[in-house]
Order: sequence, then structure tokens, then C-alpha cells
Amino acid sequence: MERRISISDLKAMKKRGERIAMLTAYDYSFARLAEEAGVPFVLVGDSLGMVVLGYDSTIPVTMDEMLHHVKAVVRGTQRVHVVADMPFMSYQAGPQEALHNAGRMLKEGGAQSVKLEGGRRVADTVRVLVDAGIPVMGHLGLTPQSINQVGGYKVQGKTPAAAVKIVNGAVALQQAGAYAIVLETVPAQLARVITERVSVPTIGIGAGPDCDGQVQVIHDMLGLFADIAPKHAKRYARLGESVVDAVRQYSAEVKDGRFPSDRESFIMDESAFSEMTHLA
Ligand code: KIV
Repeated sequence: MERRISISDLKAMKKRGERIAMLTAYDYSFARLAEEAGVPFVLVGDSLGMVVLGYDSTIPVTMDEMLHHVKAVVRGTQRVHVVADMPFMSYQAGPQEALHNAGRMLKEGGAQSVKLEGGRRVADTVRVLVDAGIPVMGHLGLTPQSINQVGGYKVQGKTPAAAVKIVNGAVALQQAGAYAIVLETVPAQLARVITERVSVPTIGIGAGPDCDGQVQVIHDMLGLFADIAPKHAKRYARLGESVVDAVRQYSAEVKDGRFPSDRESFIMDESAFSEMTHLA
């Protein structure tokens, strides 16, 4: 049986200077396709709430919703390392609750590691999870679960004091045992300093080119929604347009009788059909 990519493989990639391409996925189909494309790490992000479930933030996402999607992503992959995002209030109340919920992500969900947001504030929790054998990815900069505190999806760490706080957060996460750190929507120079300062891989999203890896929300890079185009995302496809075109065409063909044609139909043997018409 093929083994899944591990956090040691990730560390080795950083050591070799090999850049890490990470992507979100939320279901069996896209996870399968991501693996086929050779992506080593897939994040089942709580962005699930916004791009799949239609919430207006990640705040409402529950453990049960996350687990449902983590399981689907695990079923769609064999080699990929699956990172499960810890949803809002699954770890903030303290290390014991965090341990219980992170344990569920591995035990019930089948994920290989978890991700949670915050710096110094969550360092003790990270330590407890790591000591229990649960690999933890940190997440600093723009932390969407704190959206009500930071007041919008804007660049973080722009002032010297704010930037230093993020650097200290990264050091605290590394000391607590985090195996990698996501840096979201921070100035490129700050991400570079953090990448040089910590020995664990940094994974950027809107954090410039100098992180050890990058992560993108799959809906953004595939161009699934015409009206959602964050500055940090590059559209490698316009899948949304292709889907709408294809569905329009299907719908028109159903209406005018072009679909299904004989090619998509199952035809009964002539003699069987004639016998049937006598019986029916
Ligand atoms: O939930 C998510 O998709 C994330 C990434 C943006 C890093 O946390």
C-alpha cells in the first residue's frame, strides 16, 4: 500500500529548497483531481463555509461539517497529506477541547494533521496536540476566524509593531512544535523575514514569493466564481464560465429534443421489442 506524504517529507522539501504547492479541496472529486495533478498537501480549509456552504464567513462552520468533508477528501486520495482545518470554537476554549476535536479529525476524519489559527495565544494548545502525536500547522497574519476583531479581510502586519507581533507568533508556534506555518495576507517582506527566521516551512497565501510554499483556495485558482477574485489569487482557468456554458447547452438541448440522441440511449433488440409490444 502506498503511504501518504508525511510532515517529514515536508521538512525534507524545505531542506532541499523544493517549493511546496498546497491547495484546498473539500470533496472527493476535487481531491482526486488535485492528487492526480501531483499536489502533495491538501487543506480541507474552513473556507469550506464560504465557498461550498454559502456562509458569509468561516465563523458558523462546525466540527461535523468539517468532518463530513475531511472524510470525502481522504476517500478521494491515497498519497496526499490531508490537513484538516479546526473550525471556530473547536480549539479556542482550551487545550483539552482542542485535543478532543483534533483527535476526531485524525481518528474519524482520517486526516494526517490539523491547522489552527493564532500565534502566542494558541501556543500552549499547539504543544498539547503535538505532545499527543497530532501534527499541527499554524496560521498567522489574516486569521479569518478573528474577522469580527480585526474588522475586515485586510492586509495584516503593516506597522512595525504589528509585524513584530506576527514574527513573535511564528517563533512561538515553532517552539510549541508546529510543523509548518501558513502566512495569510501579510506584506511580502514580512513573510520573507519569517521564512528566514523559522526552520519550519512557511506556506503563503497573499504573502509574496519568498515563502517555502503557497496555498490557494481551489475555487479561486480555477475561477469558479466570476465575482470572487482576491488580489492574491491567480486564475489558472475559468471553470465557472465553462460550467455555465455547458449547463446552458445541456438545458437547451433537453428543451429542443437534441439530448439524448441514440448515442446516449439504450436500444432493445428488435425481436425482443416486437415480442414485448404483443405482451404489453
Ligand atoms: O480555510 C482556508 O482555506 C485557509 C487557507 C486560506 C489557508 O485557511
